[in-house]
Amino acid sequence: MGVGENKTSNFPPSLSYASIVRKTKLSPFLFTLLIFLVLFAYLYGEDLPQFVSHFSPVDAMRPALQLSQSSAITKSEKGKVRLPFVIDELDDGESCNLFSGKWVRDAVTRPLYHEADCPFIQPQLTCLERGRPDKDYQFWRWQPFECDLPSFNATMMLEALRGKRMLYVGDSLNRGQFTSMVCLLQSVIPPNAKSFVTNGSLTVFTAMDYNATVEFYWAPFLLESNSDDAIVHRISDRMVRRDSINTHGDHWKGRDIVVFNTYLWWMTGLKMKILQGSYKDDEMQVVEVSTEDAYSLAINSMLSWVKQNMDLTRTRVFFTSMSPTHGKSQDWGGESGGNCYNQTTMIEDPNYWGSDSRKSIMRVITETLHEHQDEVMVTFLNITQLSAYRKDAHTSIYKKQWNPLTPEQLANPVSYADCVHWCLPGLQDTWNELLFAKLFYF
Ligand SMILES: *[C@@H]1O[C@H](CO)[C@@H](O)[C@H](O)[C@H]1NC(C)=O
Ligand SMILES: *[C@@H]1O[C@H](CO)[C@@H](O)[C@H](O)[C@H]1NC(C)=O
Ligand SMILES: *[C@@H]1O[C@H](CO)[C@@H](O)[C@H](O)[C@H]1NC(C)=O
Ligand SMILES: *[C@@H]1O[C@H](CO)[C@@H](O)[C@H](O)[C@H]1NC(C)=O
Ligand SMILES: *[C@@H]1O[C@H](CO)[C@@H](O)[C@H](O)[C@H]1NC(C)=O
Repeated sequence: MGVGENKTSNFPPSLSYASIVRKTKLSPFLFTLLIFLVLFAYLYGEDLPQFVSHFSPVDAMRPALQLSQSSAITKSEKGKVRLPFVIDELDDGESCNLFSGKWVRDAVTRPLYHEADCPFIQPQLTCLERGRPDKDYQFWRWQPFECDLPSFNATMMLEALRGKRMLYVGDSLNRGQFTSMVCLLQSVIPPNAKSFVTNGSLTVFTAMDYNATVEFYWAPFLLESNSDDAIVHRISDRMVRRDSINTHGDHWKGRDIVVFNTYLWWMTGLKMKILQGSYKDDEMQVVEVSTEDAYSLAINSMLSWVKQNMDLTRTRVFFTSMSPTHGKSQDWGGESGGNCYNQTTMIEDPNYWGSDSRKSIMRVITETLHEHQDEVMVTFLNITQLSAYRKDAHTSIYKKQWNPLTPEQLANPVSYADCVHWCLPGLQDTWNELLFAKLFYF
């Protein structure tokens, strides 16, 4: 299901079909529909018993709802479209919104693996090893309001990947999700039957007995940028090159599942510099555009790359929405000057969203994906809201530091807490559970 489905999901969860029917009971449309049904019954008398058994006012409303929502859902209702990898549509093409739900404490089934048992977690994410005193952040399970998430089954995922390649493309947040997937899978693979190799921008985890790979390609803007291999650079110099998707995209070909993200690096708070032409041109032609316009350029380029390079009758594409940050405790009504440091509980307010700038980017994503969904079916992982509650789940100060900390920093941990990235195991395992659910069941 693509973004179109999320239009469905925008109904508040409590608004059932029945209540929609109630609200429209007297509408001329329903009246016409009933007349039509009587006629239909008359004309197709033979099929009547079966038809009647399926008929209810609720059912009568369904076609109308779908027409106004998304072609994808209509098609799946007709049974014509089943996306690759889907084995069983648990929700029958209807609209369980997996992303609308709540966190439930579950110390029985969580965490899905132990930090010390996954040797592939980068030292920036091994929070316990780096001294995090509390473990509560590991014991939460996402519970959608309208249905249950299927449990993640590593063997099943590996079987589906047999002879195939899965690739995560994007920034360090996507690297975290990639690492989570590797940890989820690697526990069922014996030590000598797996490898993990990084070469430049590409990291490849191989499950040898399955001839399967799970890979990560670092391209924080998806497009080519002057930050792609910079050691040191000024944010204000940051620049992406128009029409440059193939620079990185040439390295993404031949994959069966691709999971894209991009967000963090666009958030400079400044206008974005777009280069027309080449970095090598003597006089570089640079225009400055709004973050949203620049971001939209990248999403559109990604979609055209997918269209040109992937066969969507055999492969799947995912897009993960923005990973929220928790750099300012006032955002959730905390004391001023704080951030995610020393936060061990989540935000309880179900309407919490955080910074407004995320909204406009979300709009760009959903509008663009929706606009192109008939040509390029992208499965949208709407993880922003459910992650926004999780101010407790960041790596904070419990990570490998690149540079030695100064005495001033040490005296004030808030100043160097990382409120962007997430501890593993933790929140990002849920993102992959959602991916797993969307891949096989929804
Ligand atoms: C993402 O999910 C949240 C929570 O269910 C919802 O409020 C929001 O509208 C969704 N966004 C999109 C673009 O579907
Ligand atoms: C996981 O998937 C495998 C392969 O499809 C299956 O044999 C096994 O029963 C599943 N395990 C659980 C706990 O469902
Ligand atoms: C392994 O998988 C690749 C695709 O990822 C395929 O091209 C190759 O033929 C497979 N090798 C074997 C021995 O099955
Ligand atoms: C790393 O990648 C480069 C270019 O993609 C390739 O030429 C090189 O052989 C690779 N190195 C290793 C050790 O695989
Ligand atoms: C951490 O937060 C608790 C309250 O939740 C507070 O009592 C404690 O002083 C804080 N610790 C530090 C080091 O800020």
